[in-house]
Amino acid sequence: MKLKTTNLNLGILLLSAGMLLLSSCADSQKKEKEPINSQEIKVEGEMVAELTAPPYVPKPTKDRKATKLRVDMEILELEGELVDGVQYMFWTFDGTVPGSFIRAKLGDEIEFHLKNHPDNKLPHNIDLHAVTGPGGGAESSFVAPGQEKAFSFKALHPGLFVYHCAVAPVGMHIANGMYGLILVEPEEGLEPVDKEYYIMQGDFYTEGSYGERGMQEFSMEKAINEMADYVLFNGNVNSMTGDNALTAEVGETVRLFVGNGGPNLVSSFHAIGEIFDKVHVEGADLINHNVQTTLIPAGGAAIIEFEVNVPGTITLVDHSIFRAFNKGALAMLNVKGEENHDIFEGEIYEGIYLPEGSSIQKMPTPKTKKATVQASSLEERIAFGKDVYSRTCTACHQANGQGVPAAFPPLANSDYLNADVERAIEAVLFGMSGEITVNGEVYNSVMTSQGLNDEETANVLTYVYNNWGNDAQEITPEMVNEIRNR
Ligand code: CU
Repeated sequence: MKLKTTNLNLGILLLSAGMLLLSSCADSQKKEKEPINSQEIKVEGEMVAELTAPPYVPKPTKDRKATKLRVDMEILELEGELVDGVQYMFWTFDGTVPGSFIRAKLGDEIEFHLKNHPDNKLPHNIDLHAVTGPGGGAESSFVAPGQEKAFSFKALHPGLFVYHCAVAPVGMHIANGMYGLILVEPEEGLEPVDKEYYIMQGDFYTEGSYGERGMQEFSMEKAINEMADYVLFNGNVNSMTGDNALTAEVGETVRLFVGNGGPNLVSSFHAIGEIFDKVHVEGADLINHNVQTTLIPAGGAAIIEFEVNVPGTITLVDHSIFRAFNKGALAMLNVKGEENHDIFEGEIYEGIYLPEGSSIQKMPTPKTKKATVQASSLEERIAFGKDVYSRTCTACHQANGQGVPAAFPPLANSDYLNADVERAIEAVLFGMSGEITVNGEVYNSVMTSQGLNDEETANVLTYVYNNWGNDAQEITPEMVNEIRNR
């Protein structure tokens, strides 16, 4: 919060400062900071900004003085993937979604150079929410392909700010990935932490539905109706899962710079199995403590800090939860280190509880969806199946098929799968629940029907059967169809 100094409250400040001297030092951290007139901060020297691609951030500014900071960014229109097998034409700042992270200091004079690559098709610009001035710089940075422009602004407010393209149709430029974050650190810098990461949510609208293979065009109609097919962290379903997961060690403090590019949806940002020690609400000065879920508006951000205390995987999600498990808004933070049984003890009891008898949970069988691209060989079926697996199965059974102890059975080296192919097909088609034994371990959880069509079901099972020590079999769409219509 900014202080507007008047003689009256300056007097109160002095008075309370006097009282503080008499009170215990525990109160000292509550002392209001001297108001800073950031317009009067003088800059010293000049430097070129370090820029980083997500999920990384540049080095802290620590105690460096405000300076003349040069930022160079290049706009690239690039083909990439929303998830394996689904291509999309992204419009980007510096070739990534979100664009490069910029780390500045209060009072910096930022000379911003924006270049539009000559191979691009469209004009673009940049509106930084950290700018005090017309359009956040948009008007001064409008560049056609093959053009470069520069403008300059003074960072008058500390905080974490979104930047985005603001060329009409603005929604379309943002929906295609044109956003990122700029951090303006306060004069004293942020407190040091062990790990810092950069995460930005965005919603995507494609002509095909979620997971439909091939090159997908942007759907203006779905975007206007706010019917997102994908809700993603860092522009890809698997940007931070499996081998790409974020990492930390027990005892470390993690700081997440989280933004929301939108264009439409608000994020209910949550970490499964963790409580946020501190949240800089809306990326500003107000700090909230002990937060379970923080709301990040479209075009807004939050700085989130927490210590990790026990090993395991912390799953970061948008708690509008279908977005996490069905549209991609899910990331993983793998924490390694010593168990701490005082903080968390795993399953300590298991028994039978059947007040109403057991019943198999069956989801309504979906009408067979229109066919996807047909696999023409076993190799292709395995490759297509890997894509289905990564967007449908990874959250529970894990990227390496190892499952989660006491919760989700392994698919790797699975005696349960290898013993009965038809049972496996039924499980994917109709879901299953109740007690099963896999590799000698008992599991009692619920798997819902995944709503896959025959081709997708055949592909994903073939992928699973041809990996991780399972007994290589090909499941065909015909086999699936026969069981579906039994
Ligand atoms: Cu643009």
